[in-house]
Amino acid sequence: MKLLKEHQPTDLENLVGLTRRSFIGAGALCGAALFLGGDLLSRTALATGVSEANRTLLGFDGIATATADSVSLPPGYRASVLISWGQPLQADGPAFDPSGNGSAEAQEVQFGDNNDGMSLFPMPGHPDRALLAINNEYTNYRYLYAHGQAPQSLEEVRKALAAEGVSVIEIARQNGQWQFVQGSRFNRRIHGNTPITLSGPAAGHDWLKTAADSSGRHALGTFQNCANGKTPWGTYLTCEENFTDCFGSSDPQQAFDVGLKRYGVVAASKEIGWHPFDARFDVAKNPNEVNRHGWVVEIDPFDPKSTPVKRTALGRFKHENAALAQTKGGRAVVYMGDDERGEFIYKFISRDKIDTANPKANRDLLDHGTLYVAQFDGGDNNPDRPKGQGRWVELTHGKNGLDAAAGFNNQAEVLIHARLAASVVKATRMDRPEWIVVSPKDGQVYCTLTNNIKRGDDGQPVGGPNPRAKNQYGQILRWRETDDNASAMSFEWDLFVVAGNPVVHPGTPQAGSANINAANLFNSPDGLSFDAAGRLWIQTDGDSSNKGDFAGMGNNQMLCADPHSGEIRRFMVGPVGCEVTGISFAPDYKTMFVGLQHPGENGGSTFPEHLPGGKPRSSVMVITREDGGVIGA
Ligand code: FEO
Ligand code: CA
Ligand code: CA
Repeated sequence: MKLLKEHQPTDLENLVGLTRRSFIGAGALCGAALFLGGDLLSRTALATGVSEANRTLLGFDGIATATADSVSLPPGYRASVLISWGQPLQADGPAFDPSGNGSAEAQEVQFGDNNDGMSLFPMPGHPDRALLAINNEYTNYRYLYAHGQAPQSLEEVRKALAAEGVSVIEIARQNGQWQFVQGSRFNRRIHGNTPITLSGPAAGHDWLKTAADSSGRHALGTFQNCANGKTPWGTYLTCEENFTDCFGSSDPQQAFDVGLKRYGVVAASKEIGWHPFDARFDVAKNPNEVNRHGWVVEIDPFDPKSTPVKRTALGRFKHENAALAQTKGGRAVVYMGDDERGEFIYKFISRDKIDTANPKANRDLLDHGTLYVAQFDGGDNNPDRPKGQGRWVELTHGKNGLDAAAGFNNQAEVLIHARLAASVVKATRMDRPEWIVVSPKDGQVYCTLTNNIKRGDDGQPVGGPNPRAKNQYGQILRWRETDDNASAMSFEWDLFVVAGNPVVHPGTPQAGSANINAANLFNSPDGLSFDAAGRLWIQTDGDSSNKGDFAGMGNNQMLCADPHSGEIRRFMVGPVGCEVTGISFAPDYKTMFVGLQHPGENGGSTFPEHLPGGKPRSSVMVITREDGGVIGA
């Protein structure tokens, strides 16, 4: 398809009369289509009348796709850079060296690479100050090293480890604009060599002991930190995702046991290549190191000297994010997805209630509780947006077949091998669960199922919440817990949206659900967030080729949905090769922080500085409205 300049309607949009001016009309048409489809949304419209269908939370004009190396926003919005990869956190810190020759020591005190999930923590008593805890998921060797290849020394491995983990930074509002505070005493890097405590039921288990740590309680580092969570008691949760990619084996005869296989450890670590230089990542030399990663890590952002804690009660898998909720009885609930084709959705419920009067009393709340995994029924096979029912199955040693005969001698082993335990209880294999969020309005839970080209193969049945074989576009699942109580053991689910390309594949399941049209199409939903008004923000990490099945989708982007009407509008488009991931808001919701990860992943970008011959740098952006209003309203 011919590409036009950013902000211009595409040929196809003109063809169907969908310009920005007519977008609201398109939304109404979309509602009418849903009504004819006889689904849940249309029943809502029937009950509340046409005016309800027209009433929307979305107060901005949806924008066209774009392929430029810049940020596109609706009219009246502006973006600036808060912080970029390599920026020194301290006033006297080493400057970013674009040559790639900067040292590991320098990277350990600079903003990490490939920022992902983030949470904002208002500074008590200081309305113009806050902390942002920001994940640094991985690093791009093309830009990290001058040679642009996999690391070639222990020092280079150390630099890669330093580029990952978490950055905690102070931000302050000056002249109405939030800015990074270089030199704040709160600024901190937690990276792949930072001391971290292991706690909870698996801490101290033999499988977590190494030559360097005979206690099995003192790990080194967190890396591959994807998305995040924020607890009601003021701590940050960072989630270790593709940790097994960092491990390999120097032994040509290496026997990969069932645990290594299920978590994806292979002889040659996928392109990351740390194990030839750092024996910690060589499973032949350090077989248990890999078990000390793949956890949710809790951080107190207000105490720069605190030791982060890996909470093993939440299970070990490729954690995407951690969404906090509360049961009606006041216990903490953590919803979590395992981002791998055919893996699962989990829920943890704490044993103890949250002490709202004394935040510090919740320090070890996530060490005691029960882990569950989701089982979905086949649903009603509605061709637009199916719905059905599901239940939570407990992953506790001695229950549901989780015994020694199944390979689990105690709860520690259930948690370390949570994937294997979830398979024993026949959890439902999902289309790559990414972020999960809980609506502040009605407690419904939304989860992006980003895509799964193996659906239909490999023993993964097509149906229920995973309705398409070779799913290349993804969908957003939601569920409502029975009695609207997060402690429930059953729920009702539906698909909020099925992404697709109605222009390239009209009239087929690849067109997506009725709330997808030529003006808002996208693929691979990933990041999610609700704002206080209940707008659902959707970020994408998909195919940005803008060709073939993905024609008309442009660069990765962020959209905004009205959960009630189902309407979705495109709000932002990122630069070339980026993924839009990570989102947070200032307390007044008049500033939004958005992450742009790996611009120019495969070249073709110099975002954001656009220096001749310059390198692209992952960045956190500050989005505001020219009239100072609430974002999205
Ligand atoms: Fe780091 Fe599944 O995204
Ligand atoms: Ca993601
Ligand atoms: Ca993704």
